[in-house]
Amino acid sequence: MNWRPAFPPFFKLINRILPAKSSQAPVVGFDIGTHFIKAIEIGPLGNSFEIHRWTLEPAEGADTLSALKRAASCMSMKNQIPVASVSGKGTLIRYIDMPRMSLEELRKSFVYEIDKYFPFNPQEIYTDCYIVDPQSKEKKMSVLVAATKKELVDDRIKLFKEAGMELTHVTTDSVVMANAFNQLANTELAAGARAILDIGGSFSNLMILDKGHFPSFTRDIFIGSQELSKEIANILGVDMAKAEELKRSPADQYEEVMQACEVPIGKLIGELQLSFDYFSTEKNIPVVELFLVGGGALLKGIEGAFEKSLNIPVKIWNPLAGLHLGSEAASSDIHLCSSQLGVAIGLALTKV
Ligand SMILES: Nc1ncnc2c1ncn2[C@@H]1O[C@H](COP(=O)(O)OP(=O)(O)OP(=O)(O)O)[C@@H](O)[C@H]1O
Ligand SMILES: [Mg+2]
Repeated sequence: MNWRPAFPPFFKLINRILPAKSSQAPVVGFDIGTHFIKAIEIGPLGNSFEIHRWTLEPAEGADTLSALKRAASCMSMKNQIPVASVSGKGTLIRYIDMPRMSLEELRKSFVYEIDKYFPFNPQEIYTDCYIVDPQSKEKKMSVLVAATKKELVDDRIKLFKEAGMELTHVTTDSVVMANAFNQLANTELAAGARAILDIGGSFSNLMILDKGHFPSFTRDIFIGSQELSKEIANILGVDMAKAEELKRSPADQYEEVMQACEVPIGKLIGELQLSFDYFSTEKNIPVVELFLVGGGALLKGIEGAFEKSLNIPVKIWNPLAGLHLGSEAASSDIHLCSSQLGVAIGLALTKV
């Protein structure tokens, strides 16, 4: 088989999972969502990190390139390092047991077995791997492998080039979210697994972190906050713009708005329950806590709806809680969209 290099220098998926920031140049994380482009610049501050500036650019129905150019201009891109991710269909993470070997050896031997693990043509994907547990079973080690369609990564690089930026680091949403959560969430290590649900505009990404904090399970669920707006529009007989406004600021129509959201939220919960059951049976570890993040988590009271059905504590994760705010960020309204910035923050914390 004629293998082209499987690990081009710009694609380091999994080895970014344990961050230890080394570069002094600030990193700008660009989260290219279907509804909003989120960008945030984070630099080191003592033993911690500080948010310098950030932006949120509407991308829904707009031309992504123009939205990205606006975001880059807000971030005054000069010597900062841009980092971006890909997600959804065409990206996959798997956990496999391999004979024990070094990461270097693993990377070399793994490329010959790619087609065993991913339902993609090996010629059309980039892959990377990370040793999660070097001594998981007798003479075996547990390995996290990730693959993404080359065209997704290549398109990202092209988009950034057109916006005047050279993108040298691309990763996946699930990896950065796990990375950010492990670094920033100040949670007690519960006896069980924790789940994170990133509720975006078009889809939601579920991730379950096992007791070692690694993403043990990831899955895209094609229900996003947009479904809630559609239901509000249908049930309350308003157009989509009004439905969106009501979802964000329902004021005295709160009860009606939440009632309209019941069906799509119920569908999302149903999918979560299936995944939790599968995970608990497969791994023999119960999911004991759920954290909501993403723009969809900004719906007032959404955690209550999840908690009632799932019977486990459900919290909104605020990724800003573990970071300092520089003067420009501190005087902005960043707190109003904190949970929407999870992926962008994870990207900006990438070790480059
Ligand atoms: N204050 C708010 N209250 C309720 N919903 C909100 C609020 N702010 C934003 N949203 C919803 O969040 C969604 C956008 O979230 P986010 O920016 O995480 O999505 P995205 O990353 O662009 O989408 P995707 O991840 O699906 O590509 C929109 O559907 C929007 O209606
Ligand atoms: Mg998103």
